Amino acid sequence: MGFTVAIDGPAAAGKGTISRAVAAHFGFAHLDTGLIYRAVGKRVLDGEEPLDVARSLSAEDLDALGLRTPQVAQAASRVAVEADVREALVDFQRAFAMRDGGAVLDGRDIGTVICPEAPAKLFVTASPEVRAVRRHKELLETGHDAGYDSVLADVRARDERDRTRATAPLKPADDAVTIDTSHMSIDEAVAAAIAVVTKARG
Ligand code: DC
Repeated sequence: MGFTVAIDGPAAAGKGTISRAVAAHFGFAHLDTGLIYRAVGKRVLDGEEPLDVARSLSAEDLDALGLRTPQVAQAASRVAVEADVREALVDFQRAFAMRDGGAVLDGRDIGTVICPEAPAKLFVTASPEVRAVRRHKELLETGHDAGYDSVLADVRARDERDRTRATAPLKPADDAVTIDTSHMSIDEAVAAAIAVVTKARG
């Protein structure tokens, strides 16, 4: 029987880094569910219909190049509003969560909708300004020179859309442990997350 770790939170709060470190620590598989929505968003930007893409999405789509751009992030956040698109992506995520050997899934609705029974749930957050600084630095490192103000506006726009949508809005599950990484180093945030999962494993 697999052990599922659900990690949710807004863009650029540190979910990805924490999820990869938790997965490596416990030897669990990791799925970045944002990549699923980005893969759909990218194919929609290329002219396809969101629901057709969601129904035909394959694991290879998650390896597509160019999923990390701000344009694709916004397209992902827009397709993620559509209830039928989200529904079409549920089985893929649940199958991953149930795999033998344990799984870490990170996203927006893992603890609330995809895996409400997960024994370990984290909500990783940070202030919009801190998240914008981190995302700006990441983008510069990968050769995308968006200005800080535009990155902050992008973070705020996605927060607003992700939090206020009718289906599976971004919010902590009632039994999630919140980790605010605004004033934490990566090592501190990872240690806090590992402590929560260790306790949940009993
Ligand atoms: O985590 P990310 O920045 O790669 O996610 C891109 C968008 O996908 C995000 O703005 C909202 C959407 N998303 C979602 O609605 N549900 C998830 N579980 C993961 C991502």
